Amino acid sequence: MGNVILIGFMGCGKTTVGLRLSYRLRRTIIDTDKEIEKEEKRTISDIFAAKGEAYFRDKETECLRKLLENTGNQIISVGGGLPLREENRELLRELGQVFYLRAEAETIYERVKNDTSRPLLQVEDPQAEIRMLLRERDSCYRDASDVVIDVDGKEFEEIIDEIEACVQNGGRDEITCD
Ligand code: S3P
Repeated sequence: MGNVILIGFMGCGKTTVGLRLSYRLRRTIIDTDKEIEKEEKRTISDIFAAKGEAYFRDKETECLRKLLENTGNQIISVGGGLPLREENRELLRELGQVFYLRAEAETIYERVKNDTSRPLLQVEDPQAEIRMLLRERDSCYRDASDVVIDVDGKEFEEIIDEIEACVQNGGRDEITCD
């Protein structure tokens, strides 16, 4: 399918890049976290608190399945933990071209340090947590993605230029721009 999918760790810029990319490419944008919040009628933090992480992860897979039925040419931004399930990685690949926005732990910490909406980072030492989770997750993100975009130190416009060039370049095998 021809969707453009953005994956990566919390705070790597998926939401902002997705929004700007949607203007640039004139495509609508869908965010899996927002879809789940709408359906559950509560925030991610409340879902984690009331039903637990496993419940939320099942909702992510359900959400991807629905997107496969309903979307074709959109920008899809997904929650940072969604690509951890192998099943989800397969669904992502079926949905379209997958871009991993890769950031260093320091960049991520600077972006999320004052944010309270991400339950997994409400811990005593968020910096150490970010480093640990990033180490665990990097291979999943790479496995799920067609293109890795390094975002450290880059302006959003630069990142969007890179993604746009790859989208125009077409399918998985032809891509050289990472
Ligand atoms: C999570 C990332 C969040 C959200 C939830 C869990 C994760 O999305 O899905 O808090 O496990 O990395 P963002 O990456 O959009 O912050």
